[in-house]
Amino acid sequence: MIRLLLAESGWRVVNIDKLTYAGNLESLAEVNVAEKQRYVFSRTDICDATALSQLFAQYRPAGIIHLAAESHVDRSISGPAEFIQTNLVGTFTLLEAARAYWDTLAVEEKAGFRFHHVSTDEVFGSLGETGCFTEATAYQPHSPYSASKAGSDHLVRAWRHTYGLPTLITNCSNNYGPFQFPEKLIPLMIHNALRGKPLPVYGRGDNVRDWLYVDDHARALRLVFENGLPDETYNIGGCSEKTNLEVVDMICDLLDDLHPCADGRSYREQKTFVADRPGHDWRYAIDAGKIERELGWKPRESFETGLRKTVEWYLAHSDWVAHVISGEYRNWIELNYGNRETM
Ligand code: DAU
Repeated sequence: MIRLLLAESGWRVVNIDKLTYAGNLESLAEVNVAEKQRYVFSRTDICDATALSQLFAQYRPAGIIHLAAESHVDRSISGPAEFIQTNLVGTFTLLEAARAYWDTLAVEEKAGFRFHHVSTDEVFGSLGETGCFTEATAYQPHSPYSASKAGSDHLVRAWRHTYGLPTLITNCSNNYGPFQFPEKLIPLMIHNALRGKPLPVYGRGDNVRDWLYVDDHARALRLVFENGLPDETYNIGGCSEKTNLEVVDMICDLLDDLHPCADGRSYREQKTFVADRPGHDWRYAIDAGKIERELGWKPRESFETGLRKTVEWYLAHSDWVAHVISGEYRNWIELNYGNRETM
């Protein structure tokens, strides 16, 4: 998002990040000197009300795009507390800081201000064989993660309804692409494949996700932030439904092509079926018709083109991956997956 805003718009960006395990400033290393003139970083926790009000007073933002969240479902199952703290208490604290600042603005600035909350399709629960989530689908979150995001969506709507804060919500499907922390399915599989490790497929691998290339998502967020109407919700999806097994096989085939194993075997041989995620949602799929009709957005990448770009990026950026894999991350993986039984 930050790379896109700096490269393709005139916005000045204040990046607020607590830098937890998944935060990595190296991901912004490619931002050039001219772009850096319009960029400020503050290491701040969104639960810190005092720090937030100082930042609002200092930078007087025209709007907020709120992407700060604990986002990994497996982590929310083994340790939900952080999810309640950042996603619920953090969103509440940010809303309150934004409201206090917004109240001080002149009428025109007030009308132009936007609080854009970036959320997930997981708030809608799980689908059967057919159908898609629309903006009107009822909320039915299942995991501690998705419940915390659903709760934060409700807080955002309440701040609109009660205080008039000009809020917007977007609910997206599964993101993938460069710079993604290698705990998510796609970068984890690329990483494990290249290191000769097992590729852990949960259950039978028949769960379905709707894959959205990160640049397509960032373009959609910019459109909503700049042109979306307060009070509105927009679903953002990649129109790319795949089973997990299809995704893993496609990654293996791309690696077989771009980085073949020295001994001639296929990376597919590393696939390992492991015990399923507790409460694993079966299928997600997004109907992105509203954002297409109202704001003219469509994904540019198909899953095939986006996945090829992603695999090529990870092959060319082994340094970034090496730096991101901290001791803490390895310990966590061992703790959570080291003893999973093979099905
Ligand atoms: O749908 C949007 C959501 O997508 C976001 O809100 C979440 O923040 C994001 O983490 C993602 O949630 P998922 O649980 O769908 O993503 P994850 O990459 O963890 O898993 C994708 C699918 O792959 C899911 O069905 C579980 C499965 N999986 C995942 C991992 C990490 C495996 O089979 N093996 C694995 O090792």
